[in-house]
Amino acid sequence: MSAGRAAASAADPALAAGATEARSPSARPAPARAELRVVRVDLALRELGRRRLEAGLVDICHRTGLYGRDMAGTGIFDDRKLFALLFVLYYPRFEPESGFVALEGEGRSARVRGYCVGTPDSARQARLVRRMAPALFARMAVAALFHPESFRIARRLVSGAKADAAPDPTWKEYPAHLHINVDPGLQRGGAGSRLIEAFEARMRELGAPGIQLHTSTENAKAIPFYRKRGYEVLSEGAPGQSLWPGFPDARDLAFCKRLGSAAKTLA
Ligand SMILES: CC(C)(COP(=O)(O)OP(=O)(O)OC[C@H]1O[C@@H](n2cnc3c(N)ncnc32)[C@H](O)[C@@H]1OP(=O)(O)O)[C@@H](O)C(=O)NCCC(=O)NCCS
Repeated sequence: MSAGRAAASAADPALAAGATEARSPSARPAPARAELRVVRVDLALRELGRRRLEAGLVDICHRTGLYGRDMAGTGIFDDRKLFALLFVLYYPRFEPESGFVALEGEGRSARVRGYCVGTPDSARQARLVRRMAPALFARMAVAALFHPESFRIARRLVSGAKADAAPDPTWKEYPAHLHINVDPGLQRGGAGSRLIEAFEARMRELGAPGIQLHTSTENAKAIPFYRKRGYEVLSEGAPGQSLWPGFPDARDLAFCKRLGSAAKTLA
């Protein structure tokens, strides 16, 4: 399925929500919200510019990053920029041709409302991601002074990534991986489905036979979402490995999906 077809495949969630509002005869109609467009990241970068696009990713990443919940106010990871450097900013910087964003509005004032970013080749990504090191370490130096809790978690993550440097055998069958996050105000309105359909179509185009992704047993939104989109559990981790304090029972869940010429989607 092309990105264009994916974009046309779901009703605009904001308009759908507005349509259910009861209005008194004298009430002014609520201003229609701009339709969401699913746009490839390289094209969105040209439209918005890097600063605005990355600011949108930083914001959504942090507001949905704690097993699908908002990190803000939890005291767990308050350095939003460092959080995004660890989890999302590699993709617009090094693989903008692979991922998609959901944009509201047009041109330079368009707003990022969701994203599905990733790679068709996790082995290559594991090599390329080292190029994030200068930006990451510069930000970690700032966090060491001003956000010590964020710094500690980032340090654990970076040393864990070094220890895990060996190629993963599951990359052969499922070489692509993704990260998907939708602005909380638009969730459950079809944006996530449009984004992941566009991403899957792109991975097929780039020749990836399968996709995998990691989530957690704590993520009550993502698990039904992936199952509905035809993903199956590839592996389940042990408890006690959570990066985030306060989730002793959390277990890592890897999901996978084979990409045929027409990927099967469960009802
Ligand atoms: C997971 C996520 C990307 C789905 O995007 P979305 O735009 O809400 O998804 P869609 O509207 O296209 O699909 C809706 C389906 O997703 C699942 N879903 C989404 N939100 C859900 C919720 N709060 N509770 C249960 N299921 C939910 C359901 O299967 C739902 O179908 P249904 O409404 O028929 O029950 C979105 O909820 C999100 O960004 N969550 C926070 C970030 C996150 O957890 N990302 C995944 C990290 S691995």
